[in-house]
Amino acid sequence: MRINKYLAACGVASRRACDKLVADGKVTINGKCAELGAEVNERKDKVAVDGVPVVMQTEHEYYIMNKPKGYVCTVRDDRDRKTVMQLLPEGVGRVYPVGRLDYDTEGLLLFTDDGDLAFRITHPRNEITKTYLAKIEGTIGEKELARLRGGVELDGKRTGKSIVKVIETDKTYTRLHVTVKEGRYHLVRRMFEAVGKEVTFLKRIKIGELTLGSLERGKVRRLRADEVFYLKNL
Ligand code: URA
Repeated sequence: MRINKYLAACGVASRRACDKLVADGKVTINGKCAELGAEVNERKDKVAVDGVPVVMQTEHEYYIMNKPKGYVCTVRDDRDRKTVMQLLPEGVGRVYPVGRLDYDTEGLLLFTDDGDLAFRITHPRNEITKTYLAKIEGTIGEKELARLRGGVELDGKRTGKSIVKVIETDKTYTRLHVTVKEGRYHLVRRMFEAVGKEVTFLKRIKIGELTLGSLERGKVRRLRADEVFYLKNL
């Protein structure tokens, strides 16, 4: 198979963009710089982009949802509440949510049947960043912001450092972007609680640099191959 076709099938980018990667000397086949139009034996050759090995897409499925509030992130709920599984369109395979968002939290939620990827994204050791849009009542002072950024104590354990930016504020409310690397229970809500502020709205807007784009609330779409490639190399 031609190198550009192979790279596209691996989800690296479009064929044309893959040609550019080859021309820029970023692609190797068995450790040697690949030439434009080179042939790849997909069963034997080892291909890498910027030193990162690429593999053909498997039969796994990957979806992104813009979760609305009022849904639980379990396959079944013992209190009979609505579950995110009910929002998946017909024909989707046996995928499950990657990590959790609270009942009252909305935003970016991934689904897959790829256990390796789900594990990588959720394992705290990998420190994959998750960014939230949080709204609180009233204003927040520099002292509280510094405490949130440096880590607060929850259940006897300090939260890691986080990035906290005020996006918009007036006397009645403040909107902030909060980027964390952990996935502890009600993490963002409890961080604010620890500095005396109540979160009234919470939405996950990013995992790493992956965003919802224009996906509407309650909607689901398949991830594009380049998005899957990005997540696999996070
Ligand atoms: N932090 C929370 O408090 N809730 C979530 O759903 C995610 C992060």
